[in-house]
Amino acid sequence: MPRTSKNQQDFATNLLKWHQEKNDRKMPWKGERDPYRIWLSEIILQQTRVEQGLRYYNHFIETYPDVHTLANAPEDQVFKSWEGLGYYSRCRNLIASARKISKERGGRFPETYGEILTLKGVGPYTAAAISSFAFNLPHAVVDGNVFRVLSRIFGISTPIDSTEGKAEFTALANQLLNVKEPALYNQAIMDFGAVICKPVPLCEQCVFRDSCHAFLNSEIQLLPVKEKKIRMRKRWFYYIVLRHGDAVAVRQRNEKDIWQQLFEFPMVELDMEHDPREVTTTLIGKKGMLNETGYELITTSATYKQQLSHQMIIGQFIEIRVKNKPNNADFLWVSPSELKQFAFPRLINHYLEALEELTMANSQ
Ligand code: ADE
Repeated sequence: MPRTSKNQQDFATNLLKWHQEKNDRKMPWKGERDPYRIWLSEIILQQTRVEQGLRYYNHFIETYPDVHTLANAPEDQVFKSWEGLGYYSRCRNLIASARKISKERGGRFPETYGEILTLKGVGPYTAAAISSFAFNLPHAVVDGNVFRVLSRIFGISTPIDSTEGKAEFTALANQLLNVKEPALYNQAIMDFGAVICKPVPLCEQCVFRDSCHAFLNSEIQLLPVKEKKIRMRKRWFYYIVLRHGDAVAVRQRNEKDIWQQLFEFPMVELDMEHDPREVTTTLIGKKGMLNETGYELITTSATYKQQLSHQMIIGQFIEIRVKNKPNNADFLWVSPSELKQFAFPRLINHYLEALEELTMANSQ
């Protein structure tokens, strides 16, 4: 038995008591034992708030009720289901893992922490969540919520984004885990971080306020500590909305970059802001884009922004009518009503929504 302080010994007891008596957060995957459903909810929740994730979880469970349905669904359809959730590598990994489980394991979900960890897109946090929720295995979850709760209550200032910090918090989390009730304990600490010990915490409702280091020492704003500041990269995407007759050109992103496999309008990326008309002239004579005489610039849009974890995308749309379709094997010419079938990044959907509103207003 590792040596623990009195505070540490009481932690799990008080946490479970809070969970049972005071926490009424309802979520469809709570108490769920089906590893497929738990896996799905945890992948969705990796970088998504519960309120947003709920709708997607319900849609996925209805559309793909088991791992075989998901494994056999067309990829573009699954991407369409994922549209708007962001971090699309999660969706690619979800499909890859579903296919592996369905085809190589006859649909049997892995049942140990180590095996679960080998699934694509599953790291230590998600493996601990799935193995505890589905199989009641004693692995403590360590995520942003847990870093916040533990650093504040126990006064730990080791940076949470350092190797040392990750090891220290993981060791403490596993020491604190109630090994008889790992599923309940893990759900309780996640909820506690989301409901009480939030970035701006509700200390007046907190059951640990008499012993919480940060509360007693006025260090709530200081904990947890991060050592690295995120540097934001700015990228300017100039989208060319090429129209020919009633058709518009789209393409699938297949570069090793953000939004892989999503669709977009043909585009030019620049590393600073430009006048969209200037951008248009650079396209003249470019293979597969514009002929000198065969186009008409219809309009340029406002700018649209989408913030990702380490980059800010600034998009502008340049609508152009062409006399002849440029000879470009990458382009798919579709009718405006067909655009809804494709999965686009959020920024493009916002543009399309604005365009639709404008068209409706003009036709009234
Ligand atoms: N975030 C990630 N997993 C979660 C879960 N099971 N419940 C609540 N929030 C979560």
